[in-house]
Amino acid sequence: MAGYLVDDARKVTTHRLKEMKEQGKKIAMLTSYDYTTAKIVDGAGVDIILVGDSASNVMAGNQTTLPITIDQMIYHARSVVRGVKRALVVCDMPFGTYQVNATDGVRNAIRIMQETGCDALKLEGGVEILDTVKKILEAGIPVMGHLGLMPQSINKYGTYTVRAKEEAEAEKLLSDARALAEVGCCALVLEKIPASLTARVVSEIPIPVIGIGGGPADGQVLVIDDMLGKTQGFAPRFLRRYADLNSVMTDAIGRYVTDVKSGDFPNEKEQY
Ligand code: KIV
Repeated sequence: MAGYLVDDARKVTTHRLKEMKEQGKKIAMLTSYDYTTAKIVDGAGVDIILVGDSASNVMAGNQTTLPITIDQMIYHARSVVRGVKRALVVCDMPFGTYQVNATDGVRNAIRIMQETGCDALKLEGGVEILDTVKKILEAGIPVMGHLGLMPQSINKYGTYTVRAKEEAEAEKLLSDARALAEVGCCALVLEKIPASLTARVVSEIPIPVIGIGGGPADGQVLVIDDMLGKTQGFAPRFLRRYADLNSVMTDAIGRYVTDVKSGDFPNEKEQY
């Protein structure tokens, strides 16, 4: 079956991710927010499942990732963990749960780990949150960094355009990436930056770099609703659509409506 191209059925660990980078094996990462989807994603051979705060957009219909709460993220992550056997499950720390101070950040990080059973957490930011990242790591919690376009800071930037095109911002991103790798992050997401900058980060830091709109890296991540074509009107250049679930679902649901209204469903075999 296409998709079962996994040559290693063992549970993916942060150690395994590092090995994959060293061996030049690409890492496939995808978001999931519920049990049924996570089970399919895991069975299809995805290495990392991200319970992204993009749940705020695609699950809850918000304009940004800011409104999603820690309780809502815990609900999504717990559901995903129940459906996963092999993939590493990473949960986003939502906006407001780690920016206030390190103590607050560690407390919220421990709560998410305890209540969800996920394997690692993802935080957006560089040197500004380094102290918090260090303390979370010291608590024994693997951390994935996230630089470039950081949706939790949308109100600071005002647009979702490509980041770090200017030299100063590119240099800041490079030093943030080095700092996150040095303190012990297990991987780094780079969102919507020039491919040449991603290539520099990939070659300079020893931890896996996962791209989204950043060109080739050690791995790639997409939002599942986007790559399956459930979302509409969102077509950035980096998004490859692997299905048109919007059409498939609309057609199936339309036929169901027709069958119910005509009395064709349920038929004799579909009743007791
Ligand atoms: O929340 C999310 O889905 C993400 C990915 C876009 C990397 O952070």
